[in-house]
Amino acid sequence: MSRNEGNAQERCVTLHMVSSLDGFIARKDNSVSWLESTGSVYEAGVTISEEEAASFVKTIDCYVLGSRTYEHALELGWPYGDTPVMVVTGRELPSARKSVEFYAGDLKTLMDVQLGPRYRNIWLVGGAMLCQRFLELGMVDEIRLVIAPVLLGEGLRLFSGGMAEERWSLKNVVAYRNGFVELSYSAARA
Ligand SMILES: NC(=O)c1ccc[n+]([C@@H]2O[C@H](COP(=O)([O-])OP(=O)(O)OC[C@H]3O[C@@H](n4cnc5c(N)ncnc54)[C@H](OP(=O)(O)O)[C@@H]3O)[C@@H](O)[C@H]2O)c1
Repeated sequence: MSRNEGNAQERCVTLHMVSSLDGFIARKDNSVSWLESTGSVYEAGVTISEEEAASFVKTIDCYVLGSRTYEHALELGWPYGDTPVMVVTGRELPSARKSVEFYAGDLKTLMDVQLGPRYRNIWLVGGAMLCQRFLELGMVDEIRLVIAPVLLGEGLRLFSGGMAEERWSLKNVVAYRNGFVELSYSAARA
């Protein structure tokens, strides 16, 4: 059970990532064009309308990103709208948007002091480095992993290893018509 399940007022940190079948989140050159659908169709899968997607995204209070994901998002086209975004970095980075804040320092303080009091539904959306650190610190309540129907062969690994063994509980599975599958888990901590 998620640490925060059953208490709607507490914060929930969701790790959301899209992985290839062989566990990569980006090609070696950082490109992510493999995230686009190829036109293959899984007949039993569902589709989500733009309206449904937009109303779901409105439930997210804040995104947390590592600096490399931030820089890549600026290059590719900003996907986070006007929702508040916290970028973790030790560097001075340009801020192109009012909704972006930068944070350097302890990640527990980030959650407990900076974000926890302000936001309830917090999405950690990459990259691999920052997500792994959050998992190691036990600060993820839910994992939403989307598996894309592609083998990349090489690239940036979703998890690079070295984490302690930990059980998670499967909460939901959604298969989409474009062949992507979303697996949702909650932390099975005592
Ligand atoms: N497939 C997907 O769903 C998905 C999602 C997100 C990203 N991506 C891809 O993943 C790649 C980026 O991932 P990545 O793992 O290389 O990098 P990342 O996690 O996005 O960013 C790493 C950077 O975050 C900062 N950082 C991380 N932990 C920190 C800590 N504890 N304290 C202070 N700063 C910390 C550091 O920034 P400084 O070096 O600035 O100090 C570090 O270099 C991109 O290619 C992106 O497109 C894919």
